[in-house]
Amino acid sequence: HKRRESIFVTMNYAKDYFMRMMQISDEGKSLGLGYFKNRKFNGDTINTFDLGYSLDSWDSLEKDATQKGYTIEALELAGLRSENEKGRKYDRFRGRVMFPIHDLSGRVIAFGARTLKKDGKPKYLNSPETEIYHKSDALYGIYQSKDAIRVKDRCYLVEGYTDVISLHQAGIKNVVASSGTALTEGQIKQIKRFTNNVTAVFDGDAAGLKAAIRGVDMLLQQGLNVRVVRLPEGEDPDSYCDTLGGEKFAEFLKKEETDFILFAARLYSEEAKNDPLNKAEKIREVLKSIAVIPDTIQQEIFIKECADVFDISVESLINNLNEIKQREI
Ligand code: GTP
Ligand code: MN
Ligand code: MN
Ligand code: MN
Ligand code: MN
Repeated sequence: HKRRESIFVTMNYAKDYFMRMMQISDEGKSLGLGYFKNRKFNGDTINTFDLGYSLDSWDSLEKDATQKGYTIEALELAGLRSENEKGRKYDRFRGRVMFPIHDLSGRVIAFGARTLKKDGKPKYLNSPETEIYHKSDALYGIYQSKDAIRVKDRCYLVEGYTDVISLHQAGIKNVVASSGTALTEGQIKQIKRFTNNVTAVFDGDAAGLKAAIRGVDMLLQQGLNVRVVRLPEGEDPDSYCDTLGGEKFAEFLKKEETDFILFAARLYSEEAKNDPLNKAEKIREVLKSIAVIPDTIQQEIFIKECADVFDISVESLINNLNEIKQREI
């Protein structure tokens, strides 16, 4: 317990340090602040999300921290140090812009750190798991967005840190990021404290779309009402919000929003076209999603809509749905 507390304190210190370095050091001002200015993030946004910069140095954090009385062991427990094969230890985050990840009460539990290099690897370097950071439970943006999610009774789900930040700056403040992976039960439980309505905003490309569709089943299973918006090819929420401007982008989201099951049914039906075997397969895909929805009234409504979209009888769909459910048990 005491150790957890010490990690929270250390992470808060590190967050302040990275923010300070971005605001006062020459390197931070030119590279860190310069980067965010290029992306059109303003001062308020930088403060709301505690954005910062880690100096391109092996030990600048170590030096500043130990001078202020933090031990190296505390830095290690907080996941702020790394070690090479030879056992040499050094600051984990170097020369990257820093995105602190907050828990529901606003405490910093981890960092996502983006490279500034064109093809720098990894693009995002994250904190390792620590006693206070369990990657699968963290939901980027939930602290900054929870009030708006409650008020709007809706949560937009996007892929990346910068998507959350851009939408906030554009006035769309009910948004969290999955950080590129399917949501876990723990993350969904956090959303459910504030709303039952989730609108996933998908990248336009086909590969991303397929992965995202599979990720939605967990949301359905947890009883959420899931809607989706598909972006034009090659755009993510950040880039498209920038293209349209905040007001138009907000309108776009409202206008394009489609119920998820209907969206998937239409997409699959379009793909299967006149290939009967492919069509049968696609229908079963959609039925698998319907099968996990806890509300049987919703299930029936979706079955009817799918019967329309695929031009197949309701009876046949219901038989298949029951088969799928039987198999699950
Ligand atoms: P920008 O390119 O800066 O606009 O970021 P982005 O958020 O659009 O990145 P991208 O669409 O490539 O990835 C979406 C999200 O997946 C990111 O915000 C990260 O949370 C996560 N992600 C992407 N690349 C990596 C990586 O190399 N490592 C890890 N751990 N996560 C990543
Ligand atoms: Mn864990
Ligand atoms: Mn992507
Ligand atoms: Mn992206
Ligand atoms: Mn992006």
